[in-house]
Amino acid sequence: MNRWSSLVSGSLKWQPLRSSKFRAAFLALGLVVFLAAPLTVPSQPRPGAVSPAKQAATARLSNEQVNQKVSSLLKRMTLEEKIGQLVQIGGFSFGPKAPKPADLLRKGVGGSVLWIDDTARINRLQHVAVDESRLHIPVLFGLDVIHGYHTIFPIPLAMAASWDPALVVQAQTVAAREASAEGIQWTFAPMVDIARDPRWGRIVEGAGEDPFLGAAMARAQVRGFQGAYIGSPGHILACAKHFAGYGGADGGRDYDSVYIPEERLWNVYLPPFHAAEEAGVGSFMSAYMDLNDVPATGNRFLLQDVLRRTWHFQGFVVSDAFAVRSLVTHGFARDPKDAAFRAFTAGVNMDMASETYLQYLPELVKQGRITTAQIDAAVRPILAMKIRLGLFEHPYVDEARAAEILKSPGDVKLARRAAQRTMVLLRNENQLLPLKKSIRSIAVIGPLADSARDTNGSWVVEGKAKKAVTVLQGIRNKLGPQVHVEYAKGPEIRRWIPSMFDSMQGRKRKPPQTPEEAQKAIDTAIDAVRHADVTVAVLGELGNMSGEAASRSSLELPGRQEQLLEAAVATGKPVVLVLINGRPLNLAWASQHVPAILEAWYPGMEGGNAVADILFGDANPGGKLPIDWPRGVGQVPVYYAHNLTQMPDTAPGFKSRYWDGLSSPLYPFGYGLSYTKFAVTHLVLDRNEVKIGEKLGVSVDVQNIGHVAGDEVVQLYIHQRAGSASRPERQLKGFERITLAPGEKKTVHFTLGRNELSFWSPQDKKWVEEPENFDVWVGEDSTAKLHGTFKVIP
Ligand code: NOJ
Repeated sequence: MNRWSSLVSGSLKWQPLRSSKFRAAFLALGLVVFLAAPLTVPSQPRPGAVSPAKQAATARLSNEQVNQKVSSLLKRMTLEEKIGQLVQIGGFSFGPKAPKPADLLRKGVGGSVLWIDDTARINRLQHVAVDESRLHIPVLFGLDVIHGYHTIFPIPLAMAASWDPALVVQAQTVAAREASAEGIQWTFAPMVDIARDPRWGRIVEGAGEDPFLGAAMARAQVRGFQGAYIGSPGHILACAKHFAGYGGADGGRDYDSVYIPEERLWNVYLPPFHAAEEAGVGSFMSAYMDLNDVPATGNRFLLQDVLRRTWHFQGFVVSDAFAVRSLVTHGFARDPKDAAFRAFTAGVNMDMASETYLQYLPELVKQGRITTAQIDAAVRPILAMKIRLGLFEHPYVDEARAAEILKSPGDVKLARRAAQRTMVLLRNENQLLPLKKSIRSIAVIGPLADSARDTNGSWVVEGKAKKAVTVLQGIRNKLGPQVHVEYAKGPEIRRWIPSMFDSMQGRKRKPPQTPEEAQKAIDTAIDAVRHADVTVAVLGELGNMSGEAASRSSLELPGRQEQLLEAAVATGKPVVLVLINGRPLNLAWASQHVPAILEAWYPGMEGGNAVADILFGDANPGGKLPIDWPRGVGQVPVYYAHNLTQMPDTAPGFKSRYWDGLSSPLYPFGYGLSYTKFAVTHLVLDRNEVKIGEKLGVSVDVQNIGHVAGDEVVQLYIHQRAGSASRPERQLKGFERITLAPGEKKTVHFTLGRNELSFWSPQDKKWVEEPENFDVWVGEDSTAKLHGTFKVIP
């Protein structure tokens, strides 16, 4: 039995760190198959010079200064010490025989340590590396800081729903400040995987389906984590993951093989990674799965041809956890030594936790299969990053300050604002919302109404994260004691197949409710509904139903929640549905019968207060969907940027691609309601023809024509009418979130240039901007009607 299977079967005991509460070992299984034909490398990179952000990222120290320091270190290092830098060791050990991190660090093994969140232990281990290893090279401590550290913000999918990159910069700046004060120098974020299949559990961690929005979120997160340059005080190194294509898993099953044609890779899946790279991200993580039959962690096309040769990435690549050794499980490498060889020669600098580099690289060098020059080249960017981060000057962390930060309330204001801005109002019949604070009684029902852990959602560092305010608490805080708030949990929900993270997250598995107990819980909740003026049903998914190893084959509300909802509506009393979840769920019935639906996502530590702000009109919802919302699982994947085909949905007399349902989504990409209304008018193009490479200005007027202030996300879509390839019916190419007082009007300006108008042509095998006719639409979502045309000329 290998370590993985013993871990899963429970026969191998965790050896937790002394005081660490973070038990996350984010493991994965490997998959199958052998090499297929490599994808084409574009003959020219995507247009555009080296971005200013990328230049700025390394501006603190010149390349020359850093290279000199690296070279002088390398001269003094033995082969073992060099290989040691390529090894990332787990802060906990598997099994009693596993080497202790301190013993390895003393020998100069361990360029990085992951999965430690205990500041004192971080300092102790750093002292071992700096004081006791021969060359005193500091360790880089890495951890998954995804949507906050103490201050917990909404999950990344929700942050994308804010369509507010500035907010994302602010939130990740706070996360970086808190994590760095605690000794974390490197986060395994942002996850920038495009995801178009909501069955895939990790859709929660990304920015949704769209490359343009995804790229904006990627840039913002890199900026927030890293600051203006790598080594900015209070900031940490970012890592763009999972390179690349992880979101395209067959059937939405986590870790499953991915098949992405090169057109889609360049035009859809790679742009957010490229954006992160252009924003100066210091590291990349290679993904787990097979991409077109070549595991991403042994994929030369991705790691060399795209990342280094085309994009000129200067940082380093870390594998996902155990992914190097898993190349054997994939049926790709013959044995662990072959796995080390393949990952290393493909371009993975650092082996996360699988110890394969540690065991086999020395032998591979001795055998002459890997040269010392190759080892040096792999070590260089890791040492360079440590120098840029200032680790040699400041390796330790101030424990007293860390303790203070841990005790502080966190950035409550920003967390609340972020949660407000990420929520999407999906339905609001007869303006049921906002509710009046003068109501006499309210029923708050549902299994997610009062669960702090699930309000924070997945991917938080237990023990460091601030406890979330639940929706029930938020409503109580808002209404005070004079309003009667009746809470009933309703029937339980649970994963049928438990999560491998449950015990790490302290989730206890209780025996399931019997049908009688569940019915009783429904009856109690319905009784509360009957006696209240209005009901808020807080339904959705537990935090462990989303994330890694949390894919689903259905999108139904888990358990008996639908039954609860239908029974609540059947009372005839007004019902508001608040969703706590990390993926679109089946709202086919709810969208017809529940008068108000608010998508709150996993809203983070101030989630409950923010929900109450929106429900009672102290905040006006302005979030928009970063994904198309399917009518049911049978439509998956459904995304707005599909091609027209020979029978577009708009063809006369043609209704749908299915005879048993519509092919349009329930709610389109970019959709979201407000308590006010906006008029988007007066589309102006500053010219009707634009030469290849030149820019075109587009503007619209947006007016708040309602009675309360509100936000609109103005969105611009284009379509290229003909060319060397069929182009999507619509593609997002601009957006701006604006706030308008009642009656206020603003003109919003967009620019379309080469970056927006070019695409990777599968016929020409390169980026092209073609002299063709284009449509442009601007409006409130991806079905925007306001239309214009222009022409690109040679
Ligand atoms: C596995 C996950 O796929 C990855 O996202 C994470 O960063 C690593 N484990 C480290 O925890």
